[in-house]
Amino acid sequence: MLKCKLNITGHCLVTGSSSGIGKAVALEFASKGVPIVAISNDKRALVKLKNEITSVFDVDCYILNKDLLDEKSPLEIYQWCMDNKIDVQILINNIGLVCSGRFEDSCEKSNEDLVRLNLFPMLQLTRYFLPTLKSHNNSYILNMSSLGRCIPMPYKALYAASKAFVYSFSKALSVELKSANVQVSVSCPAGVYTNPHVVQRINSGGIIAKWTSLSVDRVSYFIVNSMLKGKKTIVPGIGAKFLLFLMRVLPESLNILIAVE
Ligand SMILES: NC(=O)c1ccc[n+]([C@@H]2O[C@H](COP(=O)([O-])OP(=O)(O)OC[C@H]3O[C@@H](n4cnc5c(N)ncnc54)[C@H](OP(=O)(O)O)[C@@H]3O)[C@@H](O)[C@H]2O)c1
Repeated sequence: MLKCKLNITGHCLVTGSSSGIGKAVALEFASKGVPIVAISNDKRALVKLKNEITSVFDVDCYILNKDLLDEKSPLEIYQWCMDNKIDVQILINNIGLVCSGRFEDSCEKSNEDLVRLNLFPMLQLTRYFLPTLKSHNNSYILNMSSLGRCIPMPYKALYAASKAFVYSFSKALSVELKSANVQVSVSCPAGVYTNPHVVQRINSGGIIAKWTSLSVDRVSYFIVNSMLKGKKTIVPGIGAKFLLFLMRVLPESLNILIAVE
């Protein structure tokens, strides 16, 4: 097995790692020699990821097929790690659902699923793994927000609100854990070309959506290397950074108009 070149002896646990940003982040850490614990509800894709990681990078990869909509899953994941002496030093709370359309047309079950999946696994896993993370001299939590957290987004109201929660929680936790040497980072990407639904949304969006969107490999490379360098707020890409600057200087009413575009 490759010895990790970083000051990391433990594992990196990634939620939602069978595809998209989560998979790319898992591969990026594996390329640095960090063993992976990959979680998702797609067993076949997880087995493929495990084969890729073990053969290409010669690094351990444990896979756990769990539905994170099930409120018992985070505790089961934690217990599995304890039972198997898997020492988690990096926790990547990546999983998240997106919604679109008018809130009044939405269905209660989809709304509940979005709130549950975007918030609860992050809160539960963070709480369970904190003692393990604190036992290291240096450890990391990365929570996946979105640039959409900056403004109220009509037609994606619940999504943007959930990502504002993730951002606010992460920034507050970062301060609480400063003296414990647990670094909490939050990533706020604009569009990322991941699943076909997102790709179609970016392609049918306006010029701003296209200009600020990046490939999943560029985003994951940027996120992983930024967090390892100590960055607490990670906004991948010049386009997204410029958009963030605009959002800060423009009045909220104008920002909301741009978001609808
Ligand atoms: N893509 C973007 O433009 C963008 C921009 C900003 C922020 N983000 C955030 O980045 C994160 C990842 O986004 P993404 O586009 O990479 O997502 P994605 O391509 O849809 O991948 C989501 C991952 O989560 C897994 N998953 C979904 N539901 C699950 C469940 N109930 N239990 C366990 N695993 C489940 C999926 O497995 P299956 O394939 O089996 O469902 C997949 O591995 C999200 O938090 C998202 O909000 C994305």
